[in-house]
Amino acid sequence: MGAPLGAATHRNREGRGRRVRPGSIGRPSRAIWPYRDGVSLSDDQGVKNDLDVLRAKRAQALEGGGLDRIEAQHARGKLTARERLALLLDDGSFQEMGALATHDETEFGLADQRYPGDGVVAGFGKINGRRVAAFAQDFTVLGGSFSRVQSNKISRIQDLALESGVPIIGLNDSGGARIQEGVASLAAYGEVFVRNVLSSGVIPQLSVILGPCAGGAVYSPALTDFVIMARGTSSMFLTGPDVIEAVTGEQVSIEQLGGAEVHEARSGVAHLVAEDEAEALELVKLLLGFLPQNNNEDPPQLTPYDPADRMDEALNGLIPADEGEPYDVRDLLARVVDRGSFLELHADYAPNAVIGLARLDGYSVGLVASQPAVMAGVLDINASDKIARFIRICDVYNIPVITFVDCPGFLPGVDQEHDGVIRHGAKIIYAYCEATVPKISIVTRRAMGGAYVALSSRQMRTDIAFAWPRAQIAVMGAEAAVRILHGRQVRAAADPGAATAEYVRQYREAFFNPYRAADLGQIDEVIEPRETRPRLIRALELLRTKVQGNPPKKHGLFPA
Ligand code: HXC
Repeated sequence: MGAPLGAATHRNREGRGRRVRPGSIGRPSRAIWPYRDGVSLSDDQGVKNDLDVLRAKRAQALEGGGLDRIEAQHARGKLTARERLALLLDDGSFQEMGALATHDETEFGLADQRYPGDGVVAGFGKINGRRVAAFAQDFTVLGGSFSRVQSNKISRIQDLALESGVPIIGLNDSGGARIQEGVASLAAYGEVFVRNVLSSGVIPQLSVILGPCAGGAVYSPALTDFVIMARGTSSMFLTGPDVIEAVTGEQVSIEQLGGAEVHEARSGVAHLVAEDEAEALELVKLLLGFLPQNNNEDPPQLTPYDPADRMDEALNGLIPADEGEPYDVRDLLARVVDRGSFLELHADYAPNAVIGLARLDGYSVGLVASQPAVMAGVLDINASDKIARFIRICDVYNIPVITFVDCPGFLPGVDQEHDGVIRHGAKIIYAYCEATVPKISIVTRRAMGGAYVALSSRQMRTDIAFAWPRAQIAVMGAEAAVRILHGRQVRAAADPGAATAEYVRQYREAFFNPYRAADLGQIDEVIEPRETRPRLIRALELLRTKVQGNPPKKHGLFPA
């Protein structure tokens, strides 16, 4: 595992750093451009020598699409590209590349619209002392539209980031392909997409959506590991409201079509939604703190601040006596992990499952849990997609996966079957079986049928399986099982109700406990709920040096 980086590398949601109100910043920060002493092209003194020429060009680059457009950007409640990078990166760490690059197009009036940088600020910097690549699209230049020059600049830092093994962060604010450039701007997207894909699983790629993200602009973020949106000012859509109305007759606003609420709760495109831009950038820092620089490294360990042997008595009473009664699994997770360290992802998408990153004894862990408080924690299509992708993220970035199971099974229903719950549910199985990072499971209450098997069961290369004493591990619920196994006897009985009750009692006695599974070695140890944290920490300590591989192949065929 990586060397401890100390507390300064971790900022939890309570401890967010600087908050800047959009519109409160008039001019670009010195931190993002340490060379502000040059002349401006508009200075009366004029250009004197080679240094003056460079300084004048740099000064012009600072102004993006001009002061009027910067004001308009602020008036929309948005920061400029440079202001965003100043908030994101450690002071004075930014090394810009391609600051003066401009296009050489002439058609559709572009000859008169040349701006140094061509609508994107790109380069390298540091976040909490760790190296990153970053680019920020500049909406003040032709709406941040994607051009050949933009593509060259972004591709360049993508290549360097991949070769150097550092994460890359894209701050997106763009009207999509630069229409005036025609097919050149479409091809330009291809350059970035191919690098997104080749970098996938090698270096963390984070996308922050801070304005419109239209047309082709959506696909690069969608190919990255994490998408963060800012509420109220960001949107993502492939075809805009005008085109939709023309084609389908539907009338919809940009916000209704692709605002943050849509992508956090309905489409599942956004992993995190921030209240404003500054918070979105803080979430980037928080997220990066859980991740390694690349797939050959382990995530950084935070200096432990919560005792490893801390037991939580409240956990012994957390599961309601009535087995049908819900509880919020997030209370459970919060009590087990290092205090305040849980960062939930996709919180409002498929909330019947909970996923997120946290720390145990300072180490990054990925948590997967069924959520009994929503639809009894049942697995459905969306929850399957959500869980499966998260396991793969953890696996590529060497983050152990801990799974908490209280799940009655897959959701029955014609729609689910017709919409492909088979292939979506298969993704969970595939992801757990494929993952070679340490995997630990804990059955806290129900683990029925497919849910038991799919959610990190022992045979699917789970390293250590725990159960709490109220665990129920069975092929299906008691009533359903009795209907299938004893239907004939029940129908023939003098008192069918009493007969059913007796068969149910027998079934429950046999299967509604963890001991049968423990006898068979499916459960390694039945533990008191309060012991969960120390048990997990010790198990992870053991597994820290785990070595496991998969057969060599080009790639598997993940169920899609
Ligand atoms: C060139 C663009 C542009 C674009 C915006 N601008 N989008 N210039 N190409 N794609 C320019 C505008 O002309 C305007 O210039 C400035 O940016 C600001 O735009 P506004 O429309 O005034 O801003 P706003 O009202 O905030 O609306 C933003 C917007 C809207 C929602 C993004 O501009 C819009 O709908 N743009 C087009 C979106 C779109 O359909 N893109 C898809 C392209 S096709 P001035 O000079 O007036 O300031 C595509 C396919 C690629 O991307 C597929 C690859 C897989």
